[in-house]
Amino acid sequence: MRFVLFLAGVGMLLGMGGGLRAQEVATPPPGNAQRGKQIFQSYGCYECHGREAQGGAGTGPRLAPHPMPFDTLAKYVRQPTGEMPPYTSKVVSDRDLADIYAFLSAQPQPPQAKSIPALND
Ligand code: HEC
Repeated sequence: MRFVLFLAGVGMLLGMGGGLRAQEVATPPPGNAQRGKQIFQSYGCYECHGREAQGGAGTGPRLAPHPMPFDTLAKYVRQPTGEMPPYTSKVVSDRDLADIYAFLSAQPQPPQAKSIPALND
């Protein structure tokens, strides 16, 4: 726990990304982003959340970049409270979740609007 607090402190000092919340610095289980991307598609997450987990209009919210803390995400997938169908550990294993999380965490940040010339004419 002390280590996590230390990391959170470092994260705040560096001002990572400006909006990083302290609990996002807690280390998630190691996962394989490549496999996570495949699972995200084969398990149908993409149908509601978009291929890049960017979210869809009226189907499912954006999940990446900067996903919620791993524990919160894992709990939601197992026991969703809204319209999303639940995925038990028989369907989506803990390893699958770790891989999905690695995929979500690896998603690139979209470019800043001011860096796109066509939006700044
Ligand atoms: C049938 C559409 C659908 C599918 C398939 C689906 N989701 Fe969702 N998901 C939703 C919707 C809609 C929400 C918004 C809350 C709600 O209504 O449950 C949501 C919410 C979430 C949240 C919480 C987001 C937040 O900001 O609170 C997570 C995490 C999530 N989904 C992950 C997944 C993963 C991982 C998969 C694949 C294993 C998946 N979802 C498959 C529709 C879907």
